[in-house]
Amino acid sequence: MKALVLNGLKEPLTIKEVEKPVLEPDEVLVKIKAAAFNHRDKWIQEGLYSGIKYPIILGSDGSGIVVETGLNVDKDWLNREVIINPSFNWGDNPKAQSKEFKILGLPDNGTLAEFALCKAEYLYKKPSHLSFEEAAAIPLAGLTAFRAIFTRAQLKPRERVLINGVGGGVALFAMQFAVAEGCEVYVTSGSNEKIENAKFLGAYGGVNYKSTNWVQDLKELAGGFDVIVDSAAGEGFKELVELANPGGRIVFYGATKGTIKDLDPRRIFWKQLNILGSTMGNKTDFDSMIRFIEQHKLLPVIDKVFPLEEANDALDRMKKAEQFGKIIIKIE
Ligand SMILES: NC(=O)c1ccc[n+]([C@@H]2O[C@H](COP(=O)([O-])OP(=O)(O)OC[C@H]3O[C@@H](n4cnc5c(N)ncnc54)[C@H](OP(=O)(O)O)[C@@H]3O)[C@@H](O)[C@H]2O)c1
Repeated sequence: MKALVLNGLKEPLTIKEVEKPVLEPDEVLVKIKAAAFNHRDKWIQEGLYSGIKYPIILGSDGSGIVVETGLNVDKDWLNREVIINPSFNWGDNPKAQSKEFKILGLPDNGTLAEFALCKAEYLYKKPSHLSFEEAAAIPLAGLTAFRAIFTRAQLKPRERVLINGVGGGVALFAMQFAVAEGCEVYVTSGSNEKIENAKFLGAYGGVNYKSTNWVQDLKELAGGFDVIVDSAAGEGFKELVELANPGGRIVFYGATKGTIKDLDPRRIFWKQLNILGSTMGNKTDFDSMIRFIEQHKLLPVIDKVFPLEEANDALDRMKKAEQFGKIIIKIE
């Protein structure tokens, strides 16, 4: 089968003919129609991720059709249109993942190939209102956003929410979910155009985090926030503490800008803040997310669909943060 392979550190992805995977009794083979990139794929290529091994077929997101089922798998899955939950081996504790936790696309081969393997327990029917490309946008980013804002931050309707860096794949899902939940949502972005796009999707307003007065501007525009969603961390994180309402929650799942610096503990305890870390999600989170998307007929935002041959251009677009929405790779 044809697959997009990462052969070594900082190397470009190359299309190769590789062995079609062989099924275990509890597994299924999915003919992939569309896959999506996450920042994780870029981190892995750059050697900035733990447990890297080469060669590897990247890709945590995939939609497609089940073409083979293992001996122990219900045959009803055959020919079904599906998406894959890439959050494997979460374990029994809903509060945190187990030591065996892993994400599809490293250490196991992922979805950037004609076929991908997974255990049947991670299959979900593709929401019927979505195309294969739209459905492929959901799994990793949608799950991370859903757990962060609902399971961890316990977001409620009418709360005022800030999505920091709305151009991110996860961040945009968080914004769509919060808007659908009936919250008053504001955004930041390094691009004025993305702020306008976010307003078109239901955000009340936003500011550019590259401007010197962005914190003051945001305070004047919206006041404080009950829930703040972040993936940048780094030096800007201390500003989020300033922007949070007393008793507010700041939930974050990424560290794109590195270590958090100069955080004043007095500001945190005096404001009674909750600072919450979040990672991916368990099956209950995935289940609830799919139901939420179906119930609200949400349409994931697709930035651009690339053919397999242009996957390196797609990754480059992500590195430069040029995208608004998910970057999709059409496999067929
Ligand atoms: N823990 C987990 O389970 C988990 C899951 C998914 C992702 N992540 C992590 O979360 C991060 C985002 O992932 P992604 O896939 O959503 O990435 P992505 O689609 O590439 O988004 C990155 C976004 O970060 C924003 N950003 C960059 N610099 C910023 C700054 N100084 N302040 C605020 N925002 C800034 C940009 O938003 P604008 O374009 O609007 O400027 C950019 O588009 C990555 O570090 C990733 O590894 C973690």
